[in-house]
This record gives sequence, structure tokens and C-alpha cells, in this order.
Amino acid sequence: MSLSKRFAKLRVDDADAFDGGVPTELAPTSTLSSIQQQVQAAEQASAPISLPVTAGNASEALSALKERVSHALYERLGSRITDSSMEESELHQFVKDELKTVVDEEQVPLSTGERQRLTREIIDDVLGHGPLQRYLDDPSVTEIMVNRADQIYVERHGQLFMTDTKFSNEEALRKVIERIVTRIGRRIDESSPLVDARLSDGSRVNAIIPPLAVNGASLTIRKFAREALTVEKLIGFGSLSPEMAELLRACVLAKMNIIVSGGTGTGKTTMLNVLSSFIPASDRIVTIEDAVELQLQQDHVVRLESRPANIEGKGEVSIRDLVRNSLRMRPDRIVVGEVRGGESLDMLQAMNTGHDGSISTVHANSPRDAVARLETLVLMAGMDLPLRAIREQIASAVNLIVHISRLRDGSRRVTHVTEVQGMEGDIVTLQDAFVFDYSAGVDANGRFLGKPIPTGVRPRFTDRFVELGIQVSPAVFGAQPARSR
Ligand SMILES: Nc1ncnc2c1ncn2[C@@H]1O[C@H](COP(=O)(O)OP(=O)(O)OP(=O)(O)O)[C@@H](O)[C@H]1O
Ligand SMILES: [Mg+2]
Repeated sequence: MSLSKRFAKLRVDDADAFDGGVPTELAPTSTLSSIQQQVQAAEQASAPISLPVTAGNASEALSALKERVSHALYERLGSRITDSSMEESELHQFVKDELKTVVDEEQVPLSTGERQRLTREIIDDVLGHGPLQRYLDDPSVTEIMVNRADQIYVERHGQLFMTDTKFSNEEALRKVIERIVTRIGRRIDESSPLVDARLSDGSRVNAIIPPLAVNGASLTIRKFAREALTVEKLIGFGSLSPEMAELLRACVLAKMNIIVSGGTGTGKTTMLNVLSSFIPASDRIVTIEDAVELQLQQDHVVRLESRPANIEGKGEVSIRDLVRNSLRMRPDRIVVGEVRGGESLDMLQAMNTGHDGSISTVHANSPRDAVARLETLVLMAGMDLPLRAIREQIASAVNLIVHISRLRDGSRRVTHVTEVQGMEGDIVTLQDAFVFDYSAGVDANGRFLGKPIPTGVRPRFTDRFVELGIQVSPAVFGAQPARSR
């Protein structure tokens, strides 16, 4: 039976059934058992089996057509598909023209609808990001996690969901990864099987392939928020209280050195962006990141991005190199996206040697853990410093730790604003100024009702506000004191 006749007969209504990436409906059990009966009968009679045509067959036929067309298209396109000198719109048109030729050559009579669908899907596969495109286009999705070709999770409103979307096979997933990576001039193959990249819209991508990824290639995309989260939005989400926002603004104006700490994906970079937005327009800011994510609104900003080694293992420029270099750029403020290595020593030294008002983030589970983590990171600088000297550096460099957690309800909240007061013996002394009020309980939907409230201990840095004439309304420290936890 010709393909077009099968289409007509089967009327594959469900668009998803046609989508190579989405599982098609299974044949009803009655059809399956009738196949089994036929098989048994055929085995007994050695007669040829005539399989009933199911939606599965049609979708297979369509996937086969799609695969053939895609293959032919890739052959025609050659290396142009990864040519980064070609404008996106130019490439788009070029692929469309080539695709038309290939589909015409197939000589399969398709209805206009089928043809459009085939074209859209192949264009998504070739130019876009295949089955991931729908999640990239969906603003409610903030993160996409492909564990392997047939298992994709997304994050919506802070919660993870498994989707029923799949790549048709490992090769299709690898094509999408390769396309992302090669467009920015990197490569991924057996000899360099992991790569950090960025989509053209700024979304952050990590890809890792076998042999390191045991179950097949894996891809993680942190979508770039089209609109940066502002302080008003964070207050709206309940992540911050207006009083705390006022306090943090005063801290940034008073040029305090601030570390934002939190676990993975808790919103550290977002908070760093918000804190940086409080920096006065007159200050010269140098930002240093692994992959640029910060969206500062000020004009006087120099953005630096580190670079991995090239194919020969040369040319790496680390965050540490950039921190050192930034000191020669006459910065008023140094904003380091995240410290995760020896650069923390250089950053602490910068904070201690007149580059006040610097801000960074560190991966940690509590403010106390943030201090411990900084100690470990300083040791990674390989300077063989005694622990006490490292702690003194931290105690005198860092003024404030803003800690964020992702709570059980999926919301991200500032759970601690903690002052680093100094040293007592060998210990860095920390004093919570605000802590999240868990005692307020949860609402009917399981959402935490509490907010960060003052502990009642007035931080010492408020003296600095007085010296600098920075006003903080009495309400900031005026609410009911909470017990520190
Ligand atoms: N307060 C918030 N409320 C809701 N969503 C938030 C909040 N802060 C950040 N997000 C969202 O959470 C995701 C992670 O944010 P962000 O990149 O700032 O986290 P991170 O801690 O820096 O992550 P990583 O550890 O991977 O660097 C983003 O999609 C961001 O838009
Ligand atoms: Mg981050």
C-alpha cells in the first residue's frame, strides 16, 4: 500500500502521533491479541501473515520518511549547517529551499497539512533544537534536563516534571548537541566529551556524552530569563521582604563585600544580578563569569568571560586570571559570577585591599557552610596558607552572607542574612540578622507563609550606614524578633 493511501486510510489525527519525538499511541489490546492469534495460526499453517495497519505502522512510515528526508537534507547542507559566519535568517532560508527540493525528490504525495508538519519538524530538528524546541519556546519552562534520548525532564514554577517527549534516537540528540556546540566554535567528541555552551538567546547549556555519560548523551539547559528577575519580582515571589530589600540596597551602597550562598539552582546568580542593580551608576563595574549570565543595567560595565583550553589544551583563561587582570582595570566594584576554585583567594585579597563593594556567589548549604567552602576554595589556590590565616582573610574581607534556599514548596527564599563579625579564637564569628520564619506554617497549597524576619540583633554594619549618611527606615529592624535557627 502506498504511503499516501495509508495516510488517507488511517487519518492520523493526533499531531503527536506524527511527531517522531513523541510516543505514539499503542495499538489497542484487541488488535494486539488478534495479531498474536494470526501469528500462531500462521506458524501452524506456515502461511504469510498480513498485519493490520495500525497508527503505529503509519507513524513508522512517516518517521521513516522524515528520517530519509532529514538524512538527504544533511547530505545537501554539508558543513554549512554549522557555519557560524552565516546569519541565522540566511541559514533558515537556505535550509527551507534545500528541504523543498528534497521533499519534491521523494515524490510522496502529501497533503498540504502533512507537508507543513513535516517541514516544521525537520526545520526544528535541523535548525532548532528538535523536540526541545517547544520547551525553549515555552516561557513557563525554566530548565530542561535531558537525561538520555528518551527521558526529558523540565522545571516549571520551581518543580520538576518528567515529560513524555523523546528524541527519536541517540543520534538525533547528538545532532542537537553538536549543533549547539559547533555554532559557538566549540566541539564535543570522544576526546572532549563535556562542554559548556550558550544558546544564541543566552541560555546556559551543559552537554556530556559517552564514554563519560554512561547511559548516552545528556544535556542540561538553564533557560535565559527573557526578563531579568528584578527586586520587585523577588519581593512579589516572597523570596525577599521589602524591608530586607531596603537593607540589602543600603549594604550595597555602603560598599560592603557580599557573598550570596545557596545550593544549585537556588537563585544565586539572580540575586547577584539584583544586588548589582543597586550599584550606583557612577561606579565602574567589572563582571567576571564563566558564561555570561548577569544582565546589569548600568552603563559603566566591563564584562569578562573565561575561556576553556582549545583542542591542543592551550589558551585557557581562567576566572582566576580574570580576577587578577581586573585589578589593573581600575574597578570600583568587582562582581564575580561564582567562586569555585583558587580565584577565591584573589577575590578575598581584592576585597581586603581596597576593592570594597565586591560581590560574588558560592555554592553552600548555609552561611556557616559558605565560610567553610571559601576556606576549601582558598586552599585550592595552592598557596599552602595556614588555616587561621585563611579564616582571618575571610573574616576581614566578607561583610555579609545572603543565603538562599529552595524550600519544599519549590519557592526560592532568602533564609539568612548573616553578618560576618570577625574572629573569636580560631572561629569566624557569624551573626544572623534575618532568618526565615518557618513557624508561620504553610497554606492550603503547601506554600510556606513565612518570610525572612529580623532576629532582633542589630548588625554592627549599621554604624557604617550612619557614617555614610545612608538612611534605613526603622521598619527594617522593627518587626517582631525571631529566634535564630
Ligand atoms: N526568587 C526566585 N523565585 C523564582 N524563581 C527564581 C528565583 N530566583 C531565581 N529563579 C529562577 O531559578 C533558576 C535558577 O536561578 P539562578 O541561575 O539564579 O540559580 P543559581 O543558584 O545561580 O544556579 P547555579 O547553581 O546553577 O549557578 C532560573 O530559572 C531563575 O529564573
Ligand atoms: Mg549561578
